[in-house]
Parts: sequence; structure tokens; C-alpha cells
Amino acid sequence: MNILSVASEVYPLVKTGGLADVAGALPLALEPLGVKTKTLLPGYPAVMAKLDETKALLDLDLLGEPARVLAAQHQGLDLLILDAPSLYDRPGGPYVDGQGRDFDDNWKRFAALSLAGARIAQGALTGWKPDLVHVHDWQAALVPVYMRYDDAPEIPSLITIHNIAFQGQFSAGLLPDLGLPEHALWEALEYYGTLAYLKGGVVAAHAISTVSPSYAEEILDPHFGMGMEGLIASRAQDLYGIVNGIDTHVWDPAADALIAAPYSAATLRKRQANREALSKHFGLDDDAAPIFCVISRLTWQKGMDVLAEVCDDLVAAGGKLVILGSGDPDLEQALQAAAQRHPGRIGMVMGYNEPLSHLMQAGADAILIPSRFEPCGLTQLYGLRYGCVPVVSRTGGLNDTVIDANAAALAAKAATGIQFAPVTGAGLRQAVRRAIRLFDDKKLWYQIQKQGMKADVSWGASAQSYVDVYNRLLGKG
Ligand code: ADP
Ligand code: GLC
Repeated sequence: MNILSVASEVYPLVKTGGLADVAGALPLALEPLGVKTKTLLPGYPAVMAKLDETKALLDLDLLGEPARVLAAQHQGLDLLILDAPSLYDRPGGPYVDGQGRDFDDNWKRFAALSLAGARIAQGALTGWKPDLVHVHDWQAALVPVYMRYDDAPEIPSLITIHNIAFQGQFSAGLLPDLGLPEHALWEALEYYGTLAYLKGGVVAAHAISTVSPSYAEEILDPHFGMGMEGLIASRAQDLYGIVNGIDTHVWDPAADALIAAPYSAATLRKRQANREALSKHFGLDDDAAPIFCVISRLTWQKGMDVLAEVCDDLVAAGGKLVILGSGDPDLEQALQAAAQRHPGRIGMVMGYNEPLSHLMQAGADAILIPSRFEPCGLTQLYGLRYGCVPVVSRTGGLNDTVIDANAAALAAKAATGIQFAPVTGAGLRQAVRRAIRLFDDKKLWYQIQKQGMKADVSWGASAQSYVDVYNRLLGKG
């Protein structure tokens, strides 16, 4: 089976969040199951710089912008790079400029990505045509829309929603510039007087998936559906919730070159060297108090305002905290102020730092994830694998992947972390206190760490679930 995957970020080429991890790891997990994936992504400068050799396959005019499709290989990934300098060759991140502002022409940059995806899906490349196209999030959501309104036959499509809060909403006046007919507006794209790329994708794709079973349920509810709950409900027959896995080679405490000392569940004591390296990095006091870590976008979704509210109490309860992240300036400031109030007890590094995130998972005792909503979440999965006990809010994928250390789960030796609700100061404070109590009972804590490290966080079962959906779309299952 040949799949075209279309995504706006793909690890290890370009990453701002979990989407990149998934788009980079899923093709590798599908390969042993007989699925061959080519991944189409934009040729941002960061991507072009990482490629050794490329081969030009196709010239395109995308909404008036000249573009080429290049073939490239990178760390096991079979890539199609959309090289369109007028759209992608500029400083900044994939979506924002150096000052953190969205690019004005994001509507065009990602419509062009989708248009290229649609043309390739419909056979524009010589010698290769996919059986099915799998697109990710709003940035690739117009692929099925472009196929629907084109003369060439469409092929089956799956859209995966990684976060329904990001919908790709733009002025309805842009429709003619997208090269779509007027009736596409009311048939697919119109959204409260604007146009929303994600809505178009959900309407036009043959199937829809999201990244955990709990989130698939939640987005049917107005509280989580962000205005799209009605539309999602109308497609409930074609909706799947498939939990993310992680790349267990990239994230392997026994063979991780980015940490101070490798270890496994059988040699957990060796974590100590990582704990010491972590404390040193963040300037923490060298003592046995539990170290919590946070590796996150600093946003309201992630409950970072609640974290800021609880910092003083976490320290008063005997905990230490290390934070890595960037995001909303107010939240950055509030957390930095907490670190300044508690030298030796709270440390913070602002920014994005992949190697440091590995050391934190390897050296901290627990990872705090107080998200208000979380489609899947990956950092709790890395935490499980590294014996860094996840303390998570009971929502979305966090609910599906962490087993709360309640009395029954502890007795059955099944617990892998702590869940709490609601996401309030009181809820998080209580969860932190529970974690510290468990940490003080060394035998129980080891049991929870070891049970977490045994959990299957690989792509195995979920890659098979994607194959099942692909087969159904191809009429084979
Ligand atoms: P989301 O995609 O919503 O941000 P996920 O938990 O799915 O949340 O994925 C976040 C990914 O980004 C993880 O791989 C996490 O380790 C990584 N990450 C987040 N913030 C940082 C940071 N400041 N430095 C390094 N990695 C980070
Ligand atoms: C989104 C979600 C996150 C999920 C990731 C990968 O960024 O916010 O929960 O893990 O996509 O699917």
C-alpha cells in the first residue's frame, strides 16, 4: 500500500510540537506492516539545510507561486519537499516570523501545500501514485477539498486532527484566491462568516481521526469541540480515535546519547547521575527532595497559569521544579518570577531545547502536565518510558495513557502515574501533594516507575489501527 502523508512539520527536520513527532514516527512504524509512505512537507530553510541530496521531480504553479517538488531521503523517511522560495524561504519558524507573529500569507502558504498534495495524490508524479492520502491538521486540510473540486478523480483521504483548537480561519473574501469555486464556500469551508481550512478537511475527507479515543469523544461536546462539535457529530460514523505512540529508538533511556547516564528499569539507580546533571543545569539544591519537571508550550491549553499559581505551594510542600518552555509572554514572566522567588528550588530555561528535554525526562522524578485539554500529549509517554512519573489532568490522551495510583491500582501494581481533576489551583496542589507522599514511600514509587517503564508506548498497536482504517477506506476491510 502506498500512502502520501502531508504535514507542515516533520521530526527530525522541523518541529514545533507533537505533530512533528507523529508525522516523523508513523511512517517508520507503518513500514513493517507493508505500508510505504512518502511525506510531503514545505521546504523551509531549516529543512533544506538538513538535506544532502535532492532530485527535482515536478514543476508546479501554486496559486501564482512557482514551486518544485523534490525527492529526498532523511533518516529512513522518504520525503517530497515542496520547494517554493516565495512561500517558505524566509527567517522565522514554520508559522511565525522572528517576532513570533503569524505570517500574513499563511493562508496561501498552506493552501499551496495542500494543492501540491492534491495534485500528487491525483497522479502528477511520473511513476508513483498513492493509493490513499493522509493529511494532518489545518495546514494540510485543503488536500481533500482540492481533490473534491477538481476534474481528475479523487483518491480516498484521511484527515487527522491533532488539535481542534487550531482551525486555520481566514477571511471568506480569500476564496477566489484559493482557486476554488464559489460553491466550495457554503458546501465545505464556510465557518461563522469566515472560512476554516480544518472544516473543509473534515467535510471533504473520507474519514477523520484524532489522536486518542477520549479526545474523539470529547470533541463531540461543545466544551471541547471549539464550535465544530456539530460537524464532527455529523461525521461520527467515519470518526476514529487512535492514540499516538512514540519513537522508542529516539526515546530510549538505555541508549540515549543526550542524557548523562543510560539506564533501564533493571538499573533504575543509575538515574541518579541524570538527576545530578539536571540539578546542576538548573542550579537546584543538591538534596533528595522530589524534582518535578515541565516541558511544554507555555499556554492556557497546557494549564500553565495554574502551574504558576501553584509554584509557591509546590516548594512549601517540599518539592523542586524545573521548567523548559516558551509561549505566552505573561506566562513566561509569571513562571520566571516564581523561579526568581525560589532560587535552588525552581529553575527555568526559556526556549526550545530538544537535548535538554531528554535530560529532564531522565533526571526528574515526575513530569507535571496540567492541561485543560490534551488531544493526546507525548511528554507523558516519554515520562513513562524514562521512569519520570506523569502527574496529569484527567483529559484526552492523558486519560487514556496514564493509570492513576488509586488504592485499587496500587494494590494491583497497575498504577503508572497520577491523574487529577479539575484543572484548578486546588486540583493541581492536591495532585502535587499526592505525588510527594508517594515519592516518600520509596518502595511504592519504584513500583510506579517500573510499571510505567513496562507500559507499551510504542507505535505497534496504533500503527496497526491506522492500517485498519486505510484498508477500510480502500474497501478491503
Ligand atoms: P503539543 O504538540 O500540544 O505541544 P505534545 O505533548 O503532543 O504537545 O508534544 C510536544 C512535543 O514538543 C514533545 O515532543 C515535547 O517534548 C516537545 N517540547 C515542548 N516544548 C519543548 C521545549 N521547550 N523544548 C524541547 N521540546 C519541547
Ligand atoms: C497536538 C496536541 C497534542 C498531541 C499532538 C500530536 O499538538 O496538542 O496533544 O499529542 O498534537 O498528535
